[in-house]
Amino acid sequence: IGGRMYQPKSSDSEPEPEDESSSSEEEKNEEKQEVEKPSASNVNSAGKPEEGTKKPVVSQQAAPAASSKPSCKPVVFVPVDRSPEIQEARLKLPILAEEQVIMEAINENPIVVICGETGSGKTTQVPQFLYEAGYTSSNGIIGITEPRRVAAVSMSQRVAKEMNLSHRVVSYQIRYEGNVTDETQIKFMTDGVLLKEVQKDFLLLKYKVIIIDEAHERSMYTDILIGLLSRIVPLREKKGLPLKLIIMSATLRVEDFTENTRLFAVTPPVLQVDARQFPVTVHFNKKTPLDDYSGECFRKVCKIHRMLPSGDDDDRKESVEEMRKFKKSRRRKKATVLPQINLDNYAVVPMDEGDEDREAESDDDIAGSDVDLDLGDGDSEEEEKSDSSLPLYVLPLYSLLAPEKQAKVFRPPPPGTRLCVVATNVAETSLTIPGIKYVVDCGKVKKRFYDKITGVSSFRVTWISQASANQRAGRAGRTEPGHCYRLYSSAVFMDFEKFSAPEITKRPVEDLILQMKALNIEKVINFPFPTPPPAEALAAAEELLIALGALKEPPVTGRPAVSEEETVKLKGKKGRLVQMQRIWAGQGSFQKLGDLMVMLGAVGACEYSGCTPKFCEENGLRYKAMLEIRRLRGQLTTAVNSVCTDAGVYVDPKMKPPTEAQATYLRQIVLAGLGDHLARRVQAEELLDDKWKNAYKTALLDDPVFIHPSSVLFKQLPEFVVYQEIVETTKLYMKDRVSWQLPAVEVDYPEGIDRFKYFAKFLLEGKVIEKLGSYSQCLLSNPLIMLKTWSKLQ
Ligand code: CDP
Ligand code: MG
Repeated sequence: IGGRMYQPKSSDSEPEPEDESSSSEEEKNEEKQEVEKPSASNVNSAGKPEEGTKKPVVSQQAAPAASSKPSCKPVVFVPVDRSPEIQEARLKLPILAEEQVIMEAINENPIVVICGETGSGKTTQVPQFLYEAGYTSSNGIIGITEPRRVAAVSMSQRVAKEMNLSHRVVSYQIRYEGNVTDETQIKFMTDGVLLKEVQKDFLLLKYKVIIIDEAHERSMYTDILIGLLSRIVPLREKKGLPLKLIIMSATLRVEDFTENTRLFAVTPPVLQVDARQFPVTVHFNKKTPLDDYSGECFRKVCKIHRMLPSGDDDDRKESVEEMRKFKKSRRRKKATVLPQINLDNYAVVPMDEGDEDREAESDDDIAGSDVDLDLGDGDSEEEEKSDSSLPLYVLPLYSLLAPEKQAKVFRPPPPGTRLCVVATNVAETSLTIPGIKYVVDCGKVKKRFYDKITGVSSFRVTWISQASANQRAGRAGRTEPGHCYRLYSSAVFMDFEKFSAPEITKRPVEDLILQMKALNIEKVINFPFPTPPPAEALAAAEELLIALGALKEPPVTGRPAVSEEETVKLKGKKGRLVQMQRIWAGQGSFQKLGDLMVMLGAVGACEYSGCTPKFCEENGLRYKAMLEIRRLRGQLTTAVNSVCTDAGVYVDPKMKPPTEAQATYLRQIVLAGLGDHLARRVQAEELLDDKWKNAYKTALLDDPVFIHPSSVLFKQLPEFVVYQEIVETTKLYMKDRVSWQLPAVEVDYPEGIDRFKYFAKFLLEGKVIEKLGSYSQCLLSNPLIMLKTWSKLQ
């Protein structure tokens, strides 16, 4: 479609400006443009670009026409050559009808909020509007942030395709990878990536426009970025290099941004995009299944498939783990039919064996007559039309899934099959899968809970918010009227919280503070957060960081970066796993590094093998995670080697196995970084009662904590361990951040020596210190915190 002109409403009545760049080729586009914009009266079709040029064309004559508002941008046209199919699909998006209004608002305001239902076209279309309106040029590009990597990658691909532009022009950048080039004009990235860029260039001078997408998700980085941008935008204005900020969100709680006086001096306009949403009939269960919601989902999907006509099924599961269980249960029950289908890619639910299905239901009184299945109710015709003879084509969808597998959900299923997507909440707002007709909503989400006082984290499956439930339901009505089956009762729904709390109020804030300090923000407490974290959490975190020495110049994190290994997650056959764990854990003093040694061994062995998918598969490692670790290690190695040239420190990128001395240093470093996370095993003579058997005492909690069974130290029960984190499941377990490696260091002391003295000596003797430059400050400050901890453990 050719270029177009945006004018402020006030200029509607003015004569249309002439544009010399009009060319005969444009006649072709004329029609499309009118189709695209039924309300073409607002569109100046004279403003045509020169054919073939991809560079913005500024129409000098056009500018005066808009001069009734001098703040308006000069009118610029950038042609985009879209295919007819793409154009047709775009026309169906509600946001297209609002293009004029949106662009006027952006032209006239530095900050604009755009609200619209998921699927209305915000993410894919707004960058295109801006591009066509000439917002990119050699001295500024359009940046779009997404809270999820999967969205950044897939949206850049989609927009490139729609605009018929190469990935060199419409690109993405996520933490470890990207395809950004000098030609990049539209850049999708994760919010974390942009935050890193702010650290290097506070004014974000390479951007003309920043779009913060999915702001309603309230991810921590998004919130910080909005706070920062509320200051950056006026600074850029002052410099005469204005930056446009566009905040895009689903229709949720925008007041947090707009009515927050700490945030914006002038309340930004909020543009509402009406969704072209078809009615979705919501069906509640009469009774709420308490435990087996996974099985309940499965049965519901079978029922829908058996009884209702096509659309596609979108069924939600809340974690990868559960997704596996879900698929497994399907296979167990159904793997006999349609042998030509490879069960690794497909899970097949045959409908000619409905009896088996019913049997499964009667096993479980939840799915019995109490449940209002509501399927085909009063509409026997529908039953006849149902596509139950088709096999179900079942695809998983979650963030960690490889991109090419993710992309499958956007393609039509193989002929003669019916699509069923088993998704985490990625499908809730980030990705819109076309043609979903039925949604089965289990009402659950797996979330991390963090106790600010004790520092205990736990993952819990909990009820979602009403907003999420409605969002999930909405996914069924994108292309035709749909149905949403909620596996809980309406009474339970009424008890859901309205919205879920922003991430920033729910998680540890130490790393947040470090990042903000790295941005030279001294008083984090005064930062204009859209929703500030509790002041006492900020204060406590700051105190801890100072005690750890991590807040000295330059800011260095006191905690070793062990959490990077969290994603190694070993999987596969248990026997093999235990065997490999034992090998990687090493012998003698290496063993004392505990799970960190296992991780180190795994990463080293993988590196040695050339990091091949085969090696990972055979040894129960996740290939994607290993690649990420490899990239991160590359980055860190380069960084360390470039700053440490004078200090005589050189990190060998080949990653040879550590020597014994290095393993000892590592233990000291880990101990130094986790000084407040030390635990001591309760001795036999101290046993108060049985619940303290094999338990550890920590400085932070009164309750017994245990080494997690997945740890290599589980059986060894060393007297002292440090841990990354305590996670509550059936008991309080010492664990690393998310995954399952943990207690790392055993403190060594000779027989018969005063432990306390030895301990202090051990700490103060950290000989590694001098070699590590500024990191040593952090180590040296630690004996204090260690001694404090120690006294509490006695
Ligand atoms: O951002 P918002 O949720 O408002 O919508 P969007 O992500 O821009 O999606 C607009 C439309 O493009 C939806 O109907 C999607 O199904 C479609 N789309 C697609 O077909 N393939 C993609 N890879 C991405 C989006
Ligand atoms: Mg979007």
